[in-house]
Amino acid sequence: MSFDLNALLRDNIRNLVPYSSARDEFKGEASVFLDANENAFGSPLPHDYNRYPDPLQHQVKHKLSKIKGVPSENMFLGNGSDEAIDILYRAFCTPKLDNVIIVPPTYGMYEVSANINDVQVRKVNLTPDFQLDLDGIADALDMHTKIIFICSPNNPTGNSINPLDIETLLLNFKGIVVVDEAYINYSKQKSFTYSLPEFPNLVVLQTLSKAWGLAALRLGLAFASKEIIAVFNKIKPPYNINQATQDLVLEALDNYSIVNEWIKETIQEREALVTQLANLSQVEHITPSDANFVLVKLEDPRGLYDALVNQGIIVRDRSKVALCEGCLRITVGTKNENEKLLAEIQSFYKSK
Ligand SMILES: Cc1ncc(COP(=O)(O)O)c(C=O)c1O
Repeated sequence: MSFDLNALLRDNIRNLVPYSSARDEFKGEASVFLDANENAFGSPLPHDYNRYPDPLQHQVKHKLSKIKGVPSENMFLGNGSDEAIDILYRAFCTPKLDNVIIVPPTYGMYEVSANINDVQVRKVNLTPDFQLDLDGIADALDMHTKIIFICSPNNPTGNSINPLDIETLLLNFKGIVVVDEAYINYSKQKSFTYSLPEFPNLVVLQTLSKAWGLAALRLGLAFASKEIIAVFNKIKPPYNINQATQDLVLEALDNYSIVNEWIKETIQEREALVTQLANLSQVEHITPSDANFVLVKLEDPRGLYDALVNQGIIVRDRSKVALCEGCLRITVGTKNENEKLLAEIQSFYKSK
């Protein structure tokens, strides 16, 4: 397989001259900044945010690089990984001409982002055990297929996708293979970031919104070859990661020991929840999960969903989603929250 990044790019992106910001143009030491039309007096806050932030987030990337074992030049930071998903479309997919492959049931933004960008989505359902249908994918692709999105561990099913199948795609497909690892911290699988040197067409997505507990700060990560990262940087809005997020993330990245504790606790709680749910006769199936949620097939999912809402407990109703018929997706909470949930599920079925 020969991978030709230039040939894969949209013409307008290949020819794009990116915006050059004030912070891009001057990089040395200075004390008087009169180049960016900022307010020189300060901010009406205890901390000053009157200066534009570092467009390429060097300090944050430096720290992340040590934690992830990936050089900064192979890293893009986005306003959530949803920004990276959108940029992938804008870089590679010409509206009304190109298409992408998604493998439902999977994360909804791949399709929404395609629709926003007017790009055709080809769906190749996962197999009944939620693995890739490689023959189906091979049949669905054509010369206009630019991206295949794989989510592992997969949302909403929770299982990991067989890494050998992902490698088969990486080796045989000339376009971009995205491996979305939003839930990788809860999995025993090795991250595909370690495979970046082998595959020029690989983009790995991760996020600080899950195990790191920073969903409100909106920081998503994309890892890829430095050539692909350069394309992302060309397309992104100049200051896509705000200063407050950069400051708080720098602080949070020093506290990884508590994050590791939470990961262990979440996995223990997940297993406890699965054991308790499996004891209920109304529960038909629980997909083994490598994530911080479980997909549970059970009796009267909509009735249970409504009853839980009445008690102030919100889970995700996936019962109308193909291959998830009859299922609720339940995020693992604290011990107390999980006990409350189980008590309400038991009382719902008793009252029927
Ligand atoms: C698989 C997957 N990818 C990406 C995201 C979005 O992450 P972010 O908060 O970084 O935009 C989610 C959020 O639920 C997700 O489940």
